[in-house]
This record gives sequence, C-alpha cells and structure tokens, in this order.
Amino acid sequence: MTQELATEPRVSAFSEDPMLVRKAFSHFPSGVAVLAVDIDDEKHALVASSFMVGVSLEPCLVSVAVQKTSETWEHIKSAPSLGVSIFGKGQGGLTRKLASKDRAARFEQVAIEVNESGSVFIEDAALWLECSIHEVTGAGDHWMVLLEVHKLGVGDNEPLIWHGSKFRELVDAQSIDIN
Ligand SMILES: Cc1cc2nc3c(=O)[nH]c(=O)nc-3n(C[C@H](O)[C@H](O)[C@H](O)COP(=O)(O)O)c2cc1C
Repeated sequence: MTQELATEPRVSAFSEDPMLVRKAFSHFPSGVAVLAVDIDDEKHALVASSFMVGVSLEPCLVSVAVQKTSETWEHIKSAPSLGVSIFGKGQGGLTRKLASKDRAARFEQVAIEVNESGSVFIEDAALWLECSIHEVTGAGDHWMVLLEVHKLGVGDNEPLIWHGSKFRELVDAQSIDIN
C-alpha cells in the first residue's frame, strides 16, 4: 500500500518553551495522584499528574516526576513511608486545593486518614498506595522518582482524568477486547 506524503507534516521542530511543551503534552490524558505524609504533625502534599503505575510488578514499582523546584519534595524525600491517593470523580477542587501555593492551608477541611507509618490518604479516592522511595534519578528539570508499593487499597470512586488542563470524568466507550 502506498502512503501519500502529507501536505502538512505531522511533526515539526519546536521551541523548548516550557509553556508550549506543556500545552502539547496536555493532549495526553492521565490520572492525578497526591503524595502525602505527616512528619512531626505537619502534613505535606504533592499533587502530580506525571504519576504512573505498572513500572514494575516484581518488585511493585510506580513512578512520579517531581519538579526540582518543589519545596514539598524537600520535606518528603526522606520520609520512610508515603501515602499515594489517586483522585476520584468530583475531586477536581480538592486536587487544586492540595496543590495550592499556600502550603500550610492545603489540608484545611480535607477528609484524610493518617496511618501508623505517617502515610496520609485522601478520603473517597479511587486508589490508595503505601509506598517507600526506591530510587531517585535526575531527569532534566525534574526528579524521576521510583516508589515501591508495600500496601494498596481500591476505592469505590472512579478516577478523575486530567486532560487539556481540565479535570474530566470517564464515560463508557465501545469495549475493546485486548486479549
Ligand atoms: C493537576 C496538577 C498536576 C501537577 N502535576 C505535577 C507533577 O507531575 N509534578 C510536579 O512536580 N508538580 C506537579 N504539579 C504541581 C505541584 O502539585 C505543586 O503545586 C508544585 O510542586 C509547587 O508546590 P511545592 O513547592 O509545595 O511542591 C501539578 C499540579 C496540578 C494542579
């Protein structure tokens, strides 16, 4: 089969303007996670759409890319245990609150559960993981963080979707059998 040459090329060189790159990458949908810990009665939250599951199954590893400028990372990077909550349907406002500039106000009136190891979990999330930091590698202006999952829990809520700089919800599409 012959392929016609496209009149408009599919790809072109781009300026490394972070805003333009961010806009292009916003076409890729993801879930949104929050890494949260309680250290000496102070709670810290790091919201991340770069969170990804399934990096490895044995050991069970997930990943998250953290901006090197993150102040929260400086607090949580030596925590022995981190709580990860995957935001659920209807939690877009909560996601923004936990990512707000006022770090001290992030947890005001937020329903959470703190366990004995200091992991903080958000109520009504879609999925909860208790993790420890497995490996941290520099990746340009971010840290590529591998987390080892030690415990997990599945919630009843469907996951929230981040796409086009907006929060969206899942809708059922035609089912596709991948097996
Ligand atoms: C929807 C959404 C997704 C985000 N994804 C990331 C991410 O993947 N990595 C990251 O470092 N920051 C991400 N951020 C920004 C952080 O949550 C946080 O606002 C930023 O790190 C500054 O706060 P800090 O200095 O307390 O860490 C995201 C924020 C929002 C609202």
